[in-house]
Amino acid sequence: MVKRDEIKNLPRHIGFIMDGNGRWAKKRGLPRLAGHRAGAENLRRILRACGEWGIKYVTIYAFSTENWGRPEEEVKGLFSLMEQFIDRELPELMKNGVQVRHIGRMDGVPERLQEKIRYLLESTKDNDKLILCIALNYGGRAEIVDAVRRIIAEGYRPEEVDEELISRYLYTAGIPDPDLIIRTAGEMRISNFLLWQSAYAEYYSTPTFWPDFNEQELYKALLDYSRRERRFGLVKEG
Ligand code: FPP
Repeated sequence: MVKRDEIKNLPRHIGFIMDGNGRWAKKRGLPRLAGHRAGAENLRRILRACGEWGIKYVTIYAFSTENWGRPEEEVKGLFSLMEQFIDRELPELMKNGVQVRHIGRMDGVPERLQEKIRYLLESTKDNDKLILCIALNYGGRAEIVDAVRRIIAEGYRPEEVDEELISRYLYTAGIPDPDLIIRTAGEMRISNFLLWQSAYAEYYSTPTFWPDFNEQELYKALLDYSRRERRFGLVKEG
């Protein structure tokens, strides 16, 4: 049962590594894409739950720069699911005041999906209840490379380069660093997700596959987070 009072401090920003769609499908004798479809279904449920908890920023790892190595049929299927997700979810996102941002490289993404994403970003840009960052064609290292390239292209001198400047040149400029990264399906890896931004994030891993990661599972993660002591490299007070 969800007991709100037990949670003293909520994360401002949660990152989700939505892993285990394939294994979820395999367990049921279904094609991998059925797992991704169930994953997309679950995404809408978890987004709604995050809104209800009052979480301000959510970042989801939808497609990594490494995911291009998957079979073509799966990649195409994922993009097609994303298009459907945008078409279907836009009214709900508007109703719930969700602003969508994209982080990652647009080039390489099929033109039709790019158009839908641009439309989604433009339509939701004035919403401010929850900021949803979709990491699509995203890699943490590629993000740092892109930032460094732009910094050099703009002619900054070495002594002007500091952490604050680099943060401003990342895709996530203006978005606070994640407080909590949740990874489903049991893996203990960061997989090139928000490398710079997650320097002091709390990490939570659950064996539950993403399509089964429901509101109760989210509550467990939030409870776990709220009991941790974050020190940011400092010593305990008192
Ligand atoms: C990892 O599961 C998941 C992905 C690579 C993609 C995540 C995509 C979705 C949740 C659905 C579509 C997204 C949107 C934004 C609508 P996996 O395939 O690696 O699972 P496995 O490790 O069990 O094989």
